[in-house]
Amino acid sequence: MTEWTKRHLLGIEPLSVDEITLILDTAVQMREIMDRPIKKVPTLRGRTVVNLFMEASTRTRASFEMAERILSADSLSIQAAGSSVSKGESLLDTVKNLEAMTPDVIVVRHSSAGAANFLARTCQSRIVNAGDGAHEHPTQALLDAFTLRQAKGRIAGLKVAIVGDVLHSRVARSNIHLLTKMGAEVTLCAPPTLLPQQFSSLATLNWRIDEAIEGADVVMMLRLQQERMTSAFISTAREYHAQYGLTLARLKKAKNDVVVLHPGPMNRGVEIASEVADSKASLILDQVTNGVAVRMAVLYLLLGGGRE
Ligand code: CP
Repeated sequence: MTEWTKRHLLGIEPLSVDEITLILDTAVQMREIMDRPIKKVPTLRGRTVVNLFMEASTRTRASFEMAERILSADSLSIQAAGSSVSKGESLLDTVKNLEAMTPDVIVVRHSSAGAANFLARTCQSRIVNAGDGAHEHPTQALLDAFTLRQAKGRIAGLKVAIVGDVLHSRVARSNIHLLTKMGAEVTLCAPPTLLPQQFSSLATLNWRIDEAIEGADVVMMLRLQQERMTSAFISTAREYHAQYGLTLARLKKAKNDVVVLHPGPMNRGVEIASEVADSKASLILDQVTNGVAVRMAVLYLLLGGGRE
């Protein structure tokens, strides 16, 4: 890995194809540990990880904690509510104080784009970005890629439609970088208000979902990120579902062996119908399982495993 990415995982954009492949290959070995009767290895014994979640999370925080336990790292989790952030302490002061307790890695989720990069520049600890505003969510894109390799055997050449609130989605950004670097053909689909032009050099943009998913190998649905919307981007959730919601009838336009991804949390009946979320095409819970393996691989590589 490069000097920069050996020290931190801040996003997919700075990673090379070789670095992404190394993480995905390492995660295959980590996934095998998860299927053992005793899910515990001493690999990170004596290492300490702080999970600093300044924004809500179920999957990412729980799977980092699970990954740390399986690898025998010591870890603690801090959330905004209940920490001194609620008394007005800044992110930098919070992290400087946590660093004074000498952790090896700080996993950080924050509502501001660039928060992880800022901490990487100003702190001594290794930083893992667990989602920073609408910027990047690198471990999500890595677990999505792992899930696609598991289901399809490859990423290169896959036709992937990413549908939903692309504008506010860090998951979309990280996936656009990862999938295009790895040779997939990406189409982005959203109402015009939620479809930024900035990715037009990397992906095809299409406002019409029926066209976007036609012949797709993969449909990745995105949640409407209401918490990041500063004005009205859609009329109503009901109308959004009628125009952009993924139903089984719509999914028939994709390939017969199409798979459906969603990073969660899902809004059933808005961007995705339950009949799709719970269908055989859905890999949504496989994504969650694979998230643990990918986060084990990231922590292992950042803490020296890749150099042994
Ligand atoms: N996919 C994802 O980031 O989910 P959480 O917000 O629950 O962590």
